[in-house]
Amino acid sequence: MSTFTEPITLPAPGVVEGLDEWKKLEVFQQPNWPDEAAVESARAQLRTFPQLVFAGEVDQLRARLGDVAQGKAFLLQGGDCAETFAHATADKIKARVKTILQMAIVLTYGASLPVIKMGRMAGQFSKPRSSDTETRDGVTLPAYRGDVVNGYDFTPESRTPDPHRLVDGYHMAASTLNLIRAFTQGGFADLREVHMWNKGFTSNPANSRYDQLAGEIDRAVRFMDACGADFEELKRADFFVGHEALLFDYERPLTRIDSRTGQPYGTSAHFLWIGERTRQLDAAHVDYLSRLRNPIGVKLGPSTSTDDVERLIDRLDPDREPGRLTFITRMGAGTIRDALPPLLEFVSKTDALPVWVSDPMHGNSMTTSTGYKTRRFDDVVNEVRGFFEAHSQVGTFPGGVHIELTGDDVTECLGGAEEIDEATLATRYESVCDPRLNHMQSLELAFLIAEELSAHSQASA
Ligand code: PEP
Ligand code: CO
Repeated sequence: MSTFTEPITLPAPGVVEGLDEWKKLEVFQQPNWPDEAAVESARAQLRTFPQLVFAGEVDQLRARLGDVAQGKAFLLQGGDCAETFAHATADKIKARVKTILQMAIVLTYGASLPVIKMGRMAGQFSKPRSSDTETRDGVTLPAYRGDVVNGYDFTPESRTPDPHRLVDGYHMAASTLNLIRAFTQGGFADLREVHMWNKGFTSNPANSRYDQLAGEIDRAVRFMDACGADFEELKRADFFVGHEALLFDYERPLTRIDSRTGQPYGTSAHFLWIGERTRQLDAAHVDYLSRLRNPIGVKLGPSTSTDDVERLIDRLDPDREPGRLTFITRMGAGTIRDALPPLLEFVSKTDALPVWVSDPMHGNSMTTSTGYKTRRFDDVVNEVRGFFEAHSQVGTFPGGVHIELTGDDVTECLGGAEEIDEATLATRYESVCDPRLNHMQSLELAFLIAEELSAHSQASA
């Protein structure tokens, strides 16, 4: 056991009992790397790199999610469907962080609850796919599995999985996280700067509404300043990162043993979730994540049974620790009001207290006649409303939202105050995966969620 008391070092394979049990199980959604020696070389490099997040931060997030489970805070997760290396630029990262900070302010102010801010950022580089291959005009190539695996361009060179991308992905995540930490800890996220976060975005109804709110916050802050309040606490914002823990060749080498406790932590992100396609109870992902100390999310689609939920709780939260397990429901706007309440009722009668989060994106995708993958803003809103209704009906706490968004002025989702229509989609469609809400649609949604949350708090007070 002496290994566990040493400072954090590389876990030798198998040091923690059972950690590699997943290797004996079915592993879904992994790439077919052409060159095993090159993959091992990439894994070996990742094993030597410093951890991206620290065990103490992960514990802090778990504790804060424990507050969410108990209805004392709200979780806001947002970011790209798939981050790309080309878009890991300062401007784009900053715009996304600003958008999330603005949404968090709208929610905090509207609902008088602490909001935990989390980016789908700094590691959201790998994607599950419905098929291993993609065929265009009679040519079949490997499907795009995210920038950490292969390129999006439809050529054999680009689509062949390249293990060097695992190492590149780590560096992209490190620089993204570095910028996030600089923005949120270095004064930019100071609450006295709320007006500044609106700068650089086009003027539109959601931004004007935000400006008004920022004015109110400014006045309140100046009043408190005049009263001699201490603003140290307002200078920094805690900002966590999370992604789908999909790719074992990335997650396993970045798993480290905490020297304080001897427990394994995924150090690629604070929060790791299991996708709808990889949550099979007897397969690799559930087993592996059950052994990490991170707070774990699981996506739940419309066909989820109470039995699935019961067994996921037993596997992932055997100690019934509030904050350990988050269920992210993505049922579809037309289904959530029927599919969610039975699950909530079932869990409310057990001793488990998971966090419930709404992902109003993944159950509402559609393809236009012109071939664009899109979502209607109204469907997203409708699913969020359905989520709040289901919780009101059962008496459970609607703990958060999980949104695919960008700070950029893209045209990927239909509707919103700008009334983006099918013809407009083509003008600024940048996503290589699912369509994201743009900055304005994101703010608009935040105002709406704030109203729902505030109504919910009042009704249950
Ligand atoms: C995603 O979050 O991008 C995703 C693939 O979601 P899901 O697993 O819910 O389909
Ligand atoms: Co997506």
